Amino acid sequence: MNKRHINYVLVTIFSLVVLTSCGGEKKKEEVKETIKLGTPKEEEPQAEMNSDVAEIVISADDMMKFDLSEIKVKAGQKIKITLRHKGKLDINVMGHNFVILKQGVDLTDFATKAAVSKDTKYIPKGSENDIVAHTDLIGGGQTSSVEFDAPEAGTYNFLCSFPGHYALMKGKFIVE
Ligand code: CO
Repeated sequence: MNKRHINYVLVTIFSLVVLTSCGGEKKKEEVKETIKLGTPKEEEPQAEMNSDVAEIVISADDMMKFDLSEIKVKAGQKIKITLRHKGKLDINVMGHNFVILKQGVDLTDFATKAAVSKDTKYIPKGSENDIVAHTDLIGGGQTSSVEFDAPEAGTYNFLCSFPGHYALMKGKFIVE
């Protein structure tokens, strides 16, 4: 056999493998579908429990604004908040985070301390007791999520603690 023949044989074998594996994949999918359709009804409460995680997406861009000024959840819920930075600017120029403060913590006091806490990404050292939850600081095109249990019913302040942002980037986190 010359080189061309060998190549032809190899191509043929390769095609057969691809065809065979595609066929296998299809079968697997069909099997999965059957299982899904056949799922007994007893398992539905499990799905409801999972849906009790309140997933919230809040976006910000290069205009120094959150797209939500109010977030409502229920006491006892598990919360997942995802902050999405839809802008293009660098983290050092237009950094955003999402910080929920505990009740009784003054928004301006916290933001003032945060503004000089660059080393700790604008979360003041020793402020763990002032915060319910916070995401990471992110720049344009990035996202950051945080998961936590909803605190007791009440109204909480949220803000971006990047220097100068809290005046526009703030809102209410309401636990009902
Ligand atoms: Co910001």
